[in-house]
Amino acid sequence: EDDPRIDGIQSRIRVVPNFPKPGIMFQDITTLLLDPKAFKDTIDLFVERYKSKNITVVAGIEARGFIFGPPIALAIGAKFVPLRKPKKLPGKVFREEYDLEYGSDCLEMHVGAVESGERALIVDDLIATGGTLCAAMNLLERAGAEVVECACVIEIPDLKGSDRLKGKPLFVLVESQ
Ligand code: PRP
Repeated sequence: EDDPRIDGIQSRIRVVPNFPKPGIMFQDITTLLLDPKAFKDTIDLFVERYKSKNITVVAGIEARGFIFGPPIALAIGAKFVPLRKPKKLPGKVFREEYDLEYGSDCLEMHVGAVESGERALIVDDLIATGGTLCAAMNLLERAGAEVVECACVIEIPDLKGSDRLKGKPLFVLVESQ
């Protein structure tokens, strides 16, 4: 990317070695949130890309997709649907299990939150192995939605997570340092 806002965003992401486990270079976006200009630039870059793509639903992945997804949804006039870790949602759910960079987990989405034929954008802070986004895509597709794109602030390119996105496009702002 040659947008001048990207460098400012990149500079606000704190890399924490050996968190939460030895060998993991944790990409901490809480420092990005402390800079209102960099946070707004992050949201604006996504909004500029998606405002004219007829997105009807922004699905955010717990937990950090809940930070970036809602302001994007509000700005483009789409609804927001949280994709939650297991046993958090009270209604009937679709459930998808997945492998993680460290461990395994599961995501759930309320049945009825998304209707057949909707156009979905999936948002998270980071793609590592791509397992989380793949599970998220499966949830949207089980509800009959079309996943238009996945969007993340950060990609760890060495892990080739984009290969797991079922041929759908991935949009990221920065690569991990
Ligand atoms: C992180 C990150 C993504 C996921 C990416 O979440 O926020 O959701 O890992 O990894 P993957 O591409 O290898 O699937 P984490 O599992 O730490 O959960 P949390 O946001 O609830 O802390």
